[in-house]
Amino acid sequence: MAKDNTCIVVLGASGDLAFKKTFPAIFGLLKHGLLPQPVQIVGYARTKMDLAKFRERVTSQIKVASDADRKLLETFKGLLTYVDGQYDQAASFQNLRAFIERLEPRSGVRNRLFYMALPPNVFGSVGKGLRENVYTANGWNRVVVEKPFGRDLPTSNELAAALAQYWKEDEIYRIDHYLGKEMVKNLLILRFANQFLGGIWDRQHISNVQITFKEPFGTEGRGGYFDEFGIIRDVMQNHLLQVLTLVAMEKPISLDPEHVRDEKVKVLRYMKELTTNDIMIGQYTASEDGKKPGYKDDKTVPKDSVAPTFATAVFFIPNERWDGVPFILKCGKALDDAKVEVRVQFNSVPGNTLYPNAARNEIVIRLQPNEAVYIKMMNKKPGMSGQPVISELELNYGRRYTGERIPDAYEALLLDVLQGDHSNFVRDDELREAWRIFTPLLHKLERERIVPLPYKYGSRGPKGLDEFIASHGFERHDLPYDWQQVFDR
Ligand code: BG6
Repeated sequence: MAKDNTCIVVLGASGDLAFKKTFPAIFGLLKHGLLPQPVQIVGYARTKMDLAKFRERVTSQIKVASDADRKLLETFKGLLTYVDGQYDQAASFQNLRAFIERLEPRSGVRNRLFYMALPPNVFGSVGKGLRENVYTANGWNRVVVEKPFGRDLPTSNELAAALAQYWKEDEIYRIDHYLGKEMVKNLLILRFANQFLGGIWDRQHISNVQITFKEPFGTEGRGGYFDEFGIIRDVMQNHLLQVLTLVAMEKPISLDPEHVRDEKVKVLRYMKELTTNDIMIGQYTASEDGKKPGYKDDKTVPKDSVAPTFATAVFFIPNERWDGVPFILKCGKALDDAKVEVRVQFNSVPGNTLYPNAARNEIVIRLQPNEAVYIKMMNKKPGMSGQPVISELELNYGRRYTGERIPDAYEALLLDVLQGDHSNFVRDDELREAWRIFTPLLHKLERERIVPLPYKYGSRGPKGLDEFIASHGFERHDLPYDWQQVFDR
């Protein structure tokens, strides 16, 4: 019964992405019995490498904790095969095809999943080589691509056109790995399966929305690569904007992937191009104690680099639901914390003559680490006092879902590809809209070489950040409150 037979071809199999993400995700699926049966796994790259070495390199990146896992890793090792070839030569792709055909069953279904863990400059030629030489007529063909999808709208359009010459949109899966994260996938349920949230999710009740991405480390080791892109392209234009669309979209007609993506793209279409007035950019310098290097101390970064490693920008969605509500997207490297969260801040209580000091309610959706949803609300301080204090209604995954496994984002997305589900992938029109919003700003920053504000490694960001956010409506309360103690236990 080879009706699910599938060959997974990882192109760029000798690169970092493949080793760190793609192969471990395939192993994760194998471990949980989620790979199709039978399955062939083929690594393809330009590097000549013998099979034993390839298998060793792939499996050395996979963490195993138990004897059962170690045994399974051996099984996985046995499934791995490797063939080298060029990215622009028909003969190489014909060789790949012959190689695959030797592994596949002779008859029945022969699905092929092509995972391009490749730099975008070869997307076009590889897309062509695969389509013309390795396309199966006996099953489905799916191609997975990953950012960077260009540097701006024109280059993204070029890439898209190069791929679209050979592949239909419904065969293409553009990965944004944030869409595979558990809490991002939870956004639809939170919003559309809870009347108490659905009913207040609008401009009448919400003052502002902040989506924050903080990493406590710099670009150590990949500064050269990062410098070509900067944080706006690296994180904001894709990961954070995708989260924004899920927070803001209208209810889709159904959970059909196209219905979901139709609603996401509508949000983007309402949004205006960003200008320099809407953004604050920063670049980190050495830490206060001098122990951590500044961004430009990295030898691979040009001494006069103006690439932002931090950015906070404000967006509006002028539709009936959101008109006037600022969506503040904030991201940075080398900051004081490691967290990604969505913080929805409600309006102050109107006519609040009784407790004028009440802090605003907030719903916080903690994407990582320690997945949680909590609502900050006012409560009477227990005891004789009649004072309101900030407390929370809390859903902490670690406690509530003890023992439940949260799959890695890549693993979840790879399963979606195998199942042909596009919901958590970026459609071509979505990508175009995302680039449209950012391209004029990116061009201006680069043309005018606008210098980012300095901030110290390990700090909260550049001076003036709180004022910038406050000017867009976020209210920082002055009541004592320590979230960390409550949640990070
Ligand atoms: C990647 C960015 O897309 O996402 C990295 O290129 C960033 O710079 C990473 O560190 C963050 O992903 P995660 O899953 O660790 O939050």
